[in-house]
Amino acid sequence: MYESFNPTPRTLMGPGPSNVSPRVLGALARPTVGHLDPQFIGLMDEIKQLLQYAFCTKNEFTIALSAPGSAGMEACIVNLIEPNDKVIVCINGVFGSRLKENVERVGAQPIVVEDKWGDPVSVEKVSDALSAHPDAKALAFVHAETSTGARSDAKSLCQLAQQYDVLTIVDAVTSLGGNELRVDDWGIDAIYSGSQKCLSCVPGISPVSFSDKAVNVLKQRTKKVPSWFLDQSLVMDYWSGEGKRSYHHTAPINSLYALHESLLMLKQEGLEQAWQRHSQLHKSLHKGLTELGIDFLVDENYRLPQLNSVIIPEGVDDTHVRATLLNKYNLEIGAGLGQLAGKTWRIGLMGTTAQAQNIALLLAALEDVLG
Ligand SMILES: Cc1ncc(COP(=O)(O)O)c(C=O)c1O
Repeated sequence: MYESFNPTPRTLMGPGPSNVSPRVLGALARPTVGHLDPQFIGLMDEIKQLLQYAFCTKNEFTIALSAPGSAGMEACIVNLIEPNDKVIVCINGVFGSRLKENVERVGAQPIVVEDKWGDPVSVEKVSDALSAHPDAKALAFVHAETSTGARSDAKSLCQLAQQYDVLTIVDAVTSLGGNELRVDDWGIDAIYSGSQKCLSCVPGISPVSFSDKAVNVLKQRTKKVPSWFLDQSLVMDYWSGEGKRSYHHTAPINSLYALHESLLMLKQEGLEQAWQRHSQLHKSLHKGLTELGIDFLVDENYRLPQLNSVIIPEGVDDTHVRATLLNKYNLEIGAGLGQLAGKTWRIGLMGTTAQAQNIALLLAALEDVLG
């Protein structure tokens, strides 16, 4: 006999999703309206404005893609990169490798700049790559590498790219709302994020923003974008235009109510205050973990406040600890990813989850489990 699904609530302190507040869940439960209903179009316009606020941009093309962060990544590549283009791709963790995979799949040539997992993208190496490949079309990198917890210097990387007149494609899935990110000031051309990390919305939506320069690159393509669904020139007509909007696909209406509410919460708190909150709570988590004898993977100068990669202490059973936290304390932390599997835990302090009471719970639970 089937029954309604009623999961046990968990404290989500992994790499995402983070906890979704009752306020956002309440928005999700409001009555569904049509995706071309004037009320809904008004909501879409507000989402665009709130996303511009969150990204610190005036970019007209700032929208919420109806799919997760991976689709945001793919949208940036398939719209802006064409076969045989050269793209400098920075790899310092799992998600940089995915950028490379996307570049290869459109038939472009990745020029890989590799850094150790846990290190930020080296500005020096990128500078060398740009001077060796001045014909590159774009520089693609991950601002906040969720697989390692390292923050790269997006501002300096974008400044460099501008000197060479190269487009910048930036992964901000984990950074948006959690640490400083300024699309216009830093000169980012194409950026994508995810709803489920520091925005603490339900998963499945990817905020995306293109500069006018990126929009022109898209408009000047000679061949169609190879993906119909991700072709942003078609999506633009659904997200903009006075009075008339043309149908592209049926938007995830209720998820967009939820995104609007989570962006409103960010606006009400203040973007810089939210960055500050993540940073302060990270410091208190760091203090508590250090007292338990747990070390961090990333150098303190490049540590992300919202994603804390810590070294699993010698002799400790990774799976047992995570399972006990989940089963005894309803507390989720993340396993290490890729080459860090079994070596690190990833402790998220993202959005709504970034609260002092959650840090106290985690520290007490870890103390208990580690004996
Ligand atoms: C840095 C980064 N990029 C891309 C993604 C992919 O996002 P999604 O899982 O929403 O498709 C993630 C997800 O964790 C991520 O952390």
